[in-house]
Amino acid sequence: MNTEKMNKNQPGGKADQFSKSGFILAAIGSAVGLGNMWKFPYITGQYGGAAFFLLFIVCLVAVGLPVLLAELAIGRGGRGSAASSFIKVGGHKAWGGMGMLSVIGSFMIMSFYAIVAGWTFHYAIRSFSGKLFSNSDFGAQFGGFISGYTPILWQAVVLLITGWIVARGISGGIEKFNKVLIPGLLLLLIILMVRALTLPGAAAGVEFFLKPDFSKLTPESALVALGHAFFSLSLGMGAMMTYGSYVDRKQSLGSATLAIGGGDLFYAFIAGLIIFPTTFSFGIDQAQGPTLVFIALPAAFSAMPLGSLFGGLFFVLLAIAALTSTVSLIEVPVAFSMERWGLSRSKAVWIIIAGCFLLGLPSALSFGLIPGLTFGGKSFFDWMDFLASNILLPLGGLIVTVFAGYFWKGVGKEAGLTAGWFRVWLFMLRFVAPILVLFVFLHSAGIIKF
Ligand code: PHE
Repeated sequence: MNTEKMNKNQPGGKADQFSKSGFILAAIGSAVGLGNMWKFPYITGQYGGAAFFLLFIVCLVAVGLPVLLAELAIGRGGRGSAASSFIKVGGHKAWGGMGMLSVIGSFMIMSFYAIVAGWTFHYAIRSFSGKLFSNSDFGAQFGGFISGYTPILWQAVVLLITGWIVARGISGGIEKFNKVLIPGLLLLLIILMVRALTLPGAAAGVEFFLKPDFSKLTPESALVALGHAFFSLSLGMGAMMTYGSYVDRKQSLGSATLAIGGGDLFYAFIAGLIIFPTTFSFGIDQAQGPTLVFIALPAAFSAMPLGSLFGGLFFVLLAIAALTSTVSLIEVPVAFSMERWGLSRSKAVWIIIAGCFLLGLPSALSFGLIPGLTFGGKSFFDWMDFLASNILLPLGGLIVTVFAGYFWKGVGKEAGLTAGWFRVWLFMLRFVAPILVLFVFLHSAGIIKF
């Protein structure tokens, strides 16, 4: 396990690490993804609109940020993969098993995340070319598409692009790519937000998204909000830990945490200001769930002037956001296998990419081509999502809070907070976060019900 080995194939033989701004942008890139643009709008639609958004902010600040800082500190303290960093700062081999969970979790998330990312590429192209609007039954179009072979092709494209970026290393690949794409994403978001806010009837959507009505909340809303704070900040999966291992010792992790959390929230906020005014303006049910952006939004774009352009831009936005997250997901097992088996970066990348492709195949095929691929009422895709997002992710988060809050003596030194903030942080890590995360975990696993 040595980091020198990991970095030996870098230009000049120097340790490959992020620049200060490069790290912030890459971490925002990891956080901002399909979670913000695809999942956040539909769960906000389903679980209470503005009141849910407020709950999400509370969870993000009270639980997400403390755990994010803990993950970054473990990574920087250990300077290795998610597994070895845990062992190094924890001083006991047993912690490595906990790190392994995140390596497996990120591999699993990647296998199905790349499929949804692939859908966005396909939709971007069909929207620009106008083909998407040649048939107005968008539900049937989407159903036909996901149950065919084309998604496999797009899954491969997403994986190849991800592999190509990650194979170029941290500063020359992941950082460079995020430095261009994250500002690009912002530009696209602003264009689409202006378009959405100037649609007739947009105000009702803004009100739904920003004027809380607490009677719309259910006990489940709180659990979903907390679970999503984790997913959205890329926590519990070793991604932030792995990125943390490439951060300079001089960089303040406290301010980085605030910047990443703020960035993630900001992108979710704008995504809401695109989706809700648009769905309200066209009288579309915003609580229809995961198909919202693939079925409802094309219907809205088809009825809007220059809709194929705006629709195309919207799906490009989703595709970019997804790619800046897939690179961070893949880096978790890549860093691990370089370290554990001494593989070169590019070898590790292509082996992992091939593995993700294979593991993704049954998920991609589970929408129709192999109809028997359901177990206990869930398709293979749903199982992967369920096991990774609802079991491994909260479990990983729980372990991080307990580890940083109770076991790691050097946690304060690595985090570098002022004495006052350190006390607040430790309190959150010790008492607030683990209890709340435990609730989410038991609920997601179906052990407790509300
Ligand atoms: N945060 C990403 C999103 O919102 C998803 C993700 C989860 C990425 C875990 C990396 C690790 O889409």
